[in-house]
Amino acid sequence: MTSKRGLFGSSLARKYWMALTGLFLITFLVIHLVGNLTIVLGTADDFNAYAAFMTSFPPIKIISYLLYASILLHAVDGIVLARQNSAARPVGYGEYRGSANSGWASRNMALLGIFTLLFLLVHMKSFWFEMHFGSLPLDANGNKDLFGITVAAFEQVWYTAFYVVAMVSLGFHLWHGVESAFQTMGWTHPTYTPVVQIAGRTLAVVLCGAFAMIPLYVLISPNI
Ligand code: HEM
Repeated sequence: MTSKRGLFGSSLARKYWMALTGLFLITFLVIHLVGNLTIVLGTADDFNAYAAFMTSFPPIKIISYLLYASILLHAVDGIVLARQNSAARPVGYGEYRGSANSGWASRNMALLGIFTLLFLLVHMKSFWFEMHFGSLPLDANGNKDLFGITVAAFEQVWYTAFYVVAMVSLGFHLWHGVESAFQTMGWTHPTYTPVVQIAGRTLAVVLCGAFAMIPLYVLISPNI
């Protein structure tokens, strides 16, 4: 074993960072979903106001930088760990805790993560980049009309299909990821660990189901 030691370099440190950043990213996703649900439950101006607030309110801007760093750290550590584990076969990343984690999702975390990263690149280009660097028209309140480009994107069948597939992939990633993060942090308990497993899987289905529903709703709604 040639792994480096330290706050970032050792395999154990990488697993801790993956668990911590993963839990932080899930928290972001819950907040992001609530904001994005204004597309379905609110008005175009509500959505534009939400996006303007999230990209201009100073404390949230600071959290955004933490978010970008977390995405990078989570992805880099995940790739490094997956490579280390495949080099040390037959014990792969998903199987290192034995039969407790032998599901399909747990064996394909790296693949699911890489597809989610690919999704994120497309997603950031479509919306984040346009919000920060594009020249979007303004709505009645003077906010950038992000709603317009969001609806235009989701009205394309291929784009919505890509989102739905990406949300299925993210759903599988979280299906195993939540309980795995708790185990890595050592937060295990004979009574509560099964509860964490059920809660994690429920969150994965509800969160990703709701995210997938938004582009589908835009695609099939004639009057949006
Ligand atoms: C229907 C689903 C989604 C919609 C409509 C949506 C919409 C948006 C929009 C409009 C922005 C730019 C405005 C802003 O920065 O707040 C954005 C940013 C972002 N989205 Fe999404 N999003 C969706 C799903 C997701 C998912 C599933 C992920 C992660 C896997 C994600 C990750 C991000 C990230 C990391 C940013 C940048 C946030 C920041 O700069 O602070 N989004 N999204």
